[in-house]
Amino acid sequence: MQYLPIFTKLDNKPVLVVGGGDVALRKCAALLKARAKVTLVAPEFCQQLIELAEQQQVNLIESTFNEAHLVNQMLVIAATDIDAVNAQVAELAEANNIFVNVVDDQPKCSFIFPSIVDRNPITIAISSAGTAPVLARRLREKLETLIPQHIGPLAELVGKFRSNVKARFQHFADRRQFWEKVFDSNVVSEVQKGRLADAEQQLHEMLSDTATPRGEVYVVGAGPGDPELLTLKALQLMQQADVVVYDYLVSEEIMELVRRDADLICVGKKAGHHSVQQEETNRMLVELANQGKKVCRIKGGDPFIYGRGGEEVQVLAEHGIAYQIVPGITAAAGCSAYAGIPLTHRDHAQAIQFVTGHCKKEGQELDWASLAKPNQTLAVYMGVIKSPHIQSQLLTHGRAPETPVAIVENGTRQNQRVVTTTLQRLADTIAEHDIRSPALLIIGEVAALHQQLAWFGTSEQVSSYAQPITAVA
Ligand SMILES: C[S@@+](CC[C@H](N)C(=O)[O-])C[C@H]1O[C@@H](n2cnc3c(N)ncnc32)[C@H](O)[C@@H]1O
Repeated sequence: MQYLPIFTKLDNKPVLVVGGGDVALRKCAALLKARAKVTLVAPEFCQQLIELAEQQQVNLIESTFNEAHLVNQMLVIAATDIDAVNAQVAELAEANNIFVNVVDDQPKCSFIFPSIVDRNPITIAISSAGTAPVLARRLREKLETLIPQHIGPLAELVGKFRSNVKARFQHFADRRQFWEKVFDSNVVSEVQKGRLADAEQQLHEMLSDTATPRGEVYVVGAGPGDPELLTLKALQLMQQADVVVYDYLVSEEIMELVRRDADLICVGKKAGHHSVQQEETNRMLVELANQGKKVCRIKGGDPFIYGRGGEEVQVLAEHGIAYQIVPGITAAAGCSAYAGIPLTHRDHAQAIQFVTGHCKKEGQELDWASLAKPNQTLAVYMGVIKSPHIQSQLLTHGRAPETPVAIVENGTRQNQRVVTTTLQRLADTIAEHDIRSPALLIIGEVAALHQQLAWFGTSEQVSSYAQPITAVA
């Protein structure tokens, strides 16, 4: 290891920055965040440094650098644009046993600034020992997306309990076990929801052993299939669940991302396949949560768009079960984007209606007169089986027979297929191409834009994932 990572407390400690320009200013900002007592030495200073000095946040010495400036300094940073000055600073600092950083000159550094993921008080420092700072920065960006924002407040909260826990458990192993239990408990999701008082209350209960394990249900939208369309929150909750209750619609790649040791329960929901009755699913969610489990109820697309998420949440609310709802990218948004079909377009469609081909009650008909109006897009979910009915109702109510239609099968997935046709040939096209579920029908003038806007290569413009197979009927 070329550099030992340590976190130093610089609170009110003297640090010297040699330089008066933008680079010195940047270093100065980082040092001020750590509340260091910063002195800068340079023949002249940029305006922002002068303002910082006026606010008495830094001390400026208008002079060329000399050895006397190093007296009593803990750290020194050489941030000038003159190599000879930087080299002199490094040499004298080394000779005086003061840690030195020379900006952009790693061989002369006895300490370096890492890339930082800041979730105060949690701080993650990444370094490539000066070899590949851009790579280190990219790693930091990756970590930024993976580490939830609530980690900081969580660390702050548990920090308040450290001495109480130490007093309650004398042995280190017992204390560790207690903290493991806390980080597996609802305290974490209460903090995540911003309910710090509830989290604190639960920690008190856990400490006094009066806490009953409280379960929780996360109703999570998984999007249409491409795992990269998951939200960060969905991913985080999938990885913290004890049990995952899922539908067929959730793609295999997404199921690969759930916590490895979680119990998996499939409740079906696919035309022609055995499905658990909705009432049974509702009961299961309540029962699992009442056992103190963290249940991830994961659904394709968005849970509140033809996902029966509303019904499930109603039952959870009736039973006083805690829950979180995480939206997902609905099929209409995902399929249209990956097929290069804008759902609205100033020239072609001023409105969009989401429609189901599958109504709950027999005879519960849609408002076909409204749906048949031109210059609007219909995104029809679960419309494959009922396509002859949809086609005939729209035509009967006046939608033009030549209205363009796109059928997107397995939208956003590796096996996405887009077939374009017209309203008058909709049902025949579905039969001819043997379209299978899941498929979304996009009816309206915008569907014609697929030919123009869909990307058939491996471009990232439409999809870095799906490579659409397209047919025109
Ligand atoms: C029960 S609904 C669920 C919708 C989901 N909650 C959503 O927001 O996308 C199922 C229907 O959504 C559509 N669908 C879902 N995922 C799809 C995909 N990847 N490609 C095409 N259609 C999809 C199909 O019409 C399917 O029959």
